[in-house]
Amino acid sequence: MRDFQGKVAFITGGASGLGLGLAKTFSEAGCKVVIADVRQAAIDEALAYFRGRNAAVHGIRLDITDRAAYAAAADEVEQVYGMAPQLLFNNAGVNTFGPTEKSTYEDWDWVIGVDFWGVVNGMQTFVPRMIASGRPGHIVNTSSIGGFEGSTAAAIYCAAKAAVNNLSESYRMSLEKYGIGVTVCTPANIKSNIAEATLTRPEHLKNTGYLVNQASIDSLKSIHVHGMEPEVLAGHVKRAVEENQLYCIPYPEVKEALEKHFQAILDAIPPVESDPEGAAKRTEALRNWARDRAKLVASEDAEAKR
Ligand code: NAI
Repeated sequence: MRDFQGKVAFITGGASGLGLGLAKTFSEAGCKVVIADVRQAAIDEALAYFRGRNAAVHGIRLDITDRAAYAAAADEVEQVYGMAPQLLFNNAGVNTFGPTEKSTYEDWDWVIGVDFWGVVNGMQTFVPRMIASGRPGHIVNTSSIGGFEGSTAAAIYCAAKAAVNNLSESYRMSLEKYGIGVTVCTPANIKSNIAEATLTRPEHLKNTGYLVNQASIDSLKSIHVHGMEPEVLAGHVKRAVEENQLYCIPYPEVKEALEKHFQAILDAIPPVESDPEGAAKRTEALRNWARDRAKLVASEDAEAKR
């Protein structure tokens, strides 16, 4: 997608950090923007920035883990702008750090709830509406470089982001036929407010196994103060949408570590010569299954249309 004029862009976590950077960037490119965020005060602050800038920006208070509220937010977008979004940014995310083995169920439920289920809820809410609109579109899921590799201090976050990378690849393949592209942005460090994510943690999920206090928040801030400016990263995201790139990873410093990581995975696979017959048989079985399944689905579809 190259022309953003008049397109509706729905951005979760749009009141801060990368989300706000995306809101500014895509608003300047001509989009009608929806800032969806769980923090009303942050939404109000963001809207104040756009006031007097001749920009169409609408704020919706939304907790992306709440499916009914998500559907209501989608209805509100259609009422306000008269159409479903053509651009969806599943961007809101939270993190908390601690030894993996000390994680509580509440640690899991909060981080997976926002970082994984929040993205799924965005897809479930908007993909059918985007398809039904018949217009081309693009979806950007914000994951993390942590989604490519495990971590001792952010296991839950990395697991959620790995799932986001993977589901984005599946959606990209599935939605191509509708003219809807999918990009995953995997940041390494953003100059944002994510160090304070713990302040948005809901009361019923407060029980943590990790050390979380003002000192831990301040130490995280010391990393993010050196992060990429949100609008610079949003510019990279915009170019990735224009080029319909699958991954947007504008962080050169991560290349070496990722090369090592993926090489170690590839090294675990023996060469085809070690089992040529078995490899050929298994590959053919998969290919035949995919062909037969496609035929089955096509005949079911034809039957349903009759
Ligand atoms: P941020 O904290 O500045 O912005 C995130 C926004 O999401 C906040 O305004 C927050 O209120 C909102 N949010 C949190 N929970 C929500 C919920 N349940 N429903 C709706 N909104 C909710 O953080 P940042 O850094 O801009 O984060 C954006 C994305 O980038 C996240 O997905 C994060 O995981 C990812 N990321 C950030 C990195 C960093 O260095 N800051 C590195 C890698 C990935």
